[in-house]
Amino acid sequence: MGVLAGRVAVITGAGRGIGREHALLFAKEGAAVVVNDLGGSNAGEGTDSGPAQDVVREIVAAGGKAVANTDDVATWDGAQKLVEQAVTEFGGLDVVVNNAGILRDAFIAGMSEAQWDAVIAVHLKGHAAVLHHAAAYWKQQSKAGNQPDAAVINTASASGTTLPNPGQANYGAAKAAIAALTLVAADELARYGVRVNAIAPIARTRLTLATPGMGEMLAAEAESSEGGFDAFAPANIAPLVAYLAAETCPITGKVFAVQGGAISELAGWHDVKTIETEGPWLIDDIAARLP
Ligand SMILES: NC(=O)c1ccc[n+]([C@@H]2O[C@H](COP(=O)([O-])OP(=O)(O)OC[C@H]3O[C@@H](n4cnc5c(N)ncnc54)[C@H](O)[C@@H]3O)[C@@H](O)[C@H]2O)c1
Repeated sequence: MGVLAGRVAVITGAGRGIGREHALLFAKEGAAVVVNDLGGSNAGEGTDSGPAQDVVREIVAAGGKAVANTDDVATWDGAQKLVEQAVTEFGGLDVVVNNAGILRDAFIAGMSEAQWDAVIAVHLKGHAAVLHHAAAYWKQQSKAGNQPDAAVINTASASGTTLPNPGQANYGAAKAAIAALTLVAADELARYGVRVNAIAPIARTRLTLATPGMGEMLAAEAESSEGGFDAFAPANIAPLVAYLAAETCPITGKVFAVQGGAISELAGWHDVKTIETEGPWLIDDIAARLP
């Protein structure tokens, strides 16, 4: 029996890259999977039902359970249909993996409104929309006396946590917000039996292969690891996500970096130095004491 036997999972952006590997491993570990993917370009343009359907075919051919969904997670309506499909087709919902993503890199001075909006919409709103509808379902289950044992795994990035990346103000801001959203949601949803964590992965996918500097590094790693352990293969991210999704996992409210052969727990903003006053602040006093 797999660690996800009997679990019903929704995985967004599961037609390609990291999400595809989550879907394949989840199905192998016994989960019934709703494979969501809008199928657009790296920049989120266009649609194609092919990637989601291909992954479903692969899972079903291997004896697993999956259905395709091509709704846009960047809309409240699309996210609602996605959550409803899990309940209608598989009788419930236990796990949400928010993973769908796009890139529209630009330096702030040259960034267009469309570049900003598209990235914030797919990443931040795309996470919040699915989280909202899943949370409403779990709240309703809990109130009806069926306390869920559910899990959400969000997808942040080093770009929004440990490694601010010039040219990715839209993406980094969305990913940092996803880390914050994870902590708030973990707090709010504990009462309904829902754990919420996030990962900040690095893997070789079409997204990173198109990122200047990174694509070359990841391609070179692939060559040098030929025949051995390919630590930057997208399949290397899925085992952590499967563990966070399992009923046996107690973890909630955490963000983990997973890259190469390492998994690290990240810590968020914290005080590093405090200056205090007994009366009103004087500008000169602040200037003298704050480095
Ligand atoms: N690859 C990395 O090293 C890396 C690093 C940090 C974070 N991430 C994050 O991991 C996630 C997966 O990225 P990837 O590298 O596998 O990229 P990818 O392009 O291979 O896969 C992303 C998938 O999301 C789908 N998608 C985009 N917009 C969607 C929408 N509105 N609704 C539904 N599906 C949509 C795309 O069609 C695509 O198939 C993203 O959130 C990305 O930001 C990846």
